[in-house]
Amino acid sequence: MAIAKKYLTQIKVAKNTNSTYFHRPFMVETGDGFAPSCIYLDCVSVKLLFRLDFYMNNRRRSPFMATKTLGLDERLYQYLLSVSLREPEILTQLRQETARLPAANMQIAPEQGQFLALLVKLLKAKKTLDIGVFTGYSSLVVALALPSDGKVIACDVSEEYTSIARRYWQQAGVIDKIDLRIAPALVTLEQLLAAKEAGTFDFIFIDADKSNYDNYYELALQLVRPGGLIAIDNVLWSGQVADPQVQDNRTNAIRALNEKLHQDQRVTISMLAIADGLTLAMKN
Ligand SMILES: C[S@@+](CC[C@H](N)C(=O)[O-])C[C@H]1O[C@@H](n2cnc3c(N)ncnc32)[C@H](O)[C@@H]1O
Repeated sequence: MAIAKKYLTQIKVAKNTNSTYFHRPFMVETGDGFAPSCIYLDCVSVKLLFRLDFYMNNRRRSPFMATKTLGLDERLYQYLLSVSLREPEILTQLRQETARLPAANMQIAPEQGQFLALLVKLLKAKKTLDIGVFTGYSSLVVALALPSDGKVIACDVSEEYTSIARRYWQQAGVIDKIDLRIAPALVTLEQLLAAKEAGTFDFIFIDADKSNYDNYYELALQLVRPGGLIAIDNVLWSGQVADPQVQDNRTNAIRALNEKLHQDQRVTISMLAIADGLTLAMKN
């Protein structure tokens, strides 16, 4: 109740749409620490805030993070999915199993996965890197989009999460395309550079611990080929990056990288408001 009251006092009423809605980001605990989340509620649903307070006190986690595109109301989001999502059954099953985990909100959104698959095909990618695997959705989406001789080097520190991933990769028949490296991703990326794999990757997806985002970006920039693409997830961080009152390490790390990328002439960029925000950086 205390949390709900606090957020009720801070709610802003946005009047720029047909239906008035409330928007207030707040912090939730995720598998890799505390992360921001957003809620979008109809006027009549303010009572949900009180239920949310109960939920947060009891679960310490929110379902509202990155598993869907931010800023769309539920009806429009469902419409978007209904006319565009072509999710293979195996990915739907993985999403359903992941949704039962306490850290489910770490998974990318299905429309984002489909977009990553399109990028991989446009690039005619063969060699890719997935930094932050979790239960394997992004690795699987990319592996399914790759040709039979394509490869995903998948980096994570968690045996527990990636054991789920491996099961689905096996079922999907793509396990031979995925080289899972259980180690801090910085170590794996340095090993790839030491093995003279600089400039050989077509596509790199960055979605692990946020405080290392800049390190991942710099190493990825060495590993990707000219014309290859680095995709960076959570760049809008549920809106927290735009709230100057939020000054935690993760939010500041994402903000700093966003600002750096804006000026970085080594890459051609586009920041997209898909899912939790996705920046595309093509190496010049
Ligand atoms: C947001 S999740 C990745 C979601 C995934 N891309 C998907 O599609 O579901 C972040 C993952 O990064 C992993 N991680 C956290 N710190 C890491 C590190 N230092 N090195 C490698 N992986 C790390 C976590 O174990 C977690 O599985």
